Amino acid sequence: MNEYWESRFMNEGAMWKFEPADSAIYALSLFKSEKIREILVPGFGYGRNGKLFIDNGFKVTGIEISQSAIDLARQSGLECTVHHGSVTLMPFDNQKYDGIFCFALIHLLNQRERRNFLKSCFSQLKPCGIMIFTAASKNTGLYGHGRCISKDRYEIARGLKVYFYDNDAILKEFSDFGIVECSDFVEPVKFMEGEEPVKLKLVICKKA
Ligand SMILES: C[S@@+](CC[C@H](N)C(=O)[O-])C[C@H]1O[C@@H](n2cnc3c(N)ncnc32)[C@H](O)[C@@H]1O
Repeated sequence: MNEYWESRFMNEGAMWKFEPADSAIYALSLFKSEKIREILVPGFGYGRNGKLFIDNGFKVTGIEISQSAIDLARQSGLECTVHHGSVTLMPFDNQKYDGIFCFALIHLLNQRERRNFLKSCFSQLKPCGIMIFTAASKNTGLYGHGRCISKDRYEIARGLKVYFYDNDAILKEFSDFGIVECSDFVEPVKFMEGEEPVKLKLVICKKA
C-alpha cells in the first residue's frame, strides 16, 4: 500500500490539484452547523481537503502513509500536525476529536483493517462528535475491473486494492459506530476535464 501511494505522489506531485472535493465542502457545512472545531483527517494526502478546513478556522490533524505527500503539503504552506504512518497503526496521539473527515481511504483496507480503523476512529471521537467517510460505491464505473481478490474487492491497478460498498455492506460495517446516514454522493473529478464523476457512498456517524 505504502509503495503504491509513495510512488504516485513522488512521480505525479499534487495530482488532484488543490481544489477540495465536493464531499469535503459538504462536510465543512455539516461540521460548522454542529459547532465542530477540531478534526482528524486520516488519508490527508497533500492536504487539498485539509486546507479547506484549516482556511475555515478548524484545528486539523492529519494521518498520511506517504512522506512525499506530507512533503507536498509542507511545500504548499500547510503547517498542521500530520502523523506519518498507516491508519492501521492508530492511535498516533491521545487526542479526542470533535470530528473526523476521511475521503476515499477506508475502501483501500482489507476487511479486518476496515473494522479496526473504524474502531480506532470511533475511540478518538468525543461524545457528540461526528465522523464522515466517503468510500467507493458498487455503482461506480470501476466496480468489477481488475483482479478479484475477494467478494467486491478488486486490484484495479497494480498495488491498488479497492473494496466497493453497497448499502448492505455500509450498514454491516458501520452499524457499531453510530451510523446515522448513508447516501450516494456523486463526486466530480474537477482536476480532469471531461472525466466521469466518481460515485461514492457518504457515511455520517455520530457518537452518543
Ligand atoms: C484516494 S487518496 C485521498 C487523498 C486525500 N484525502 C485527497 O482527497 O486529497 C487516499 C490517501 O490515503 C493515503 N493512504 C492510503 N492508505 C493509507 C493508510 N493505510 N494509512 C494512511 N494513509 C493512507 C494515500 O497516501 C492517499 O493520500
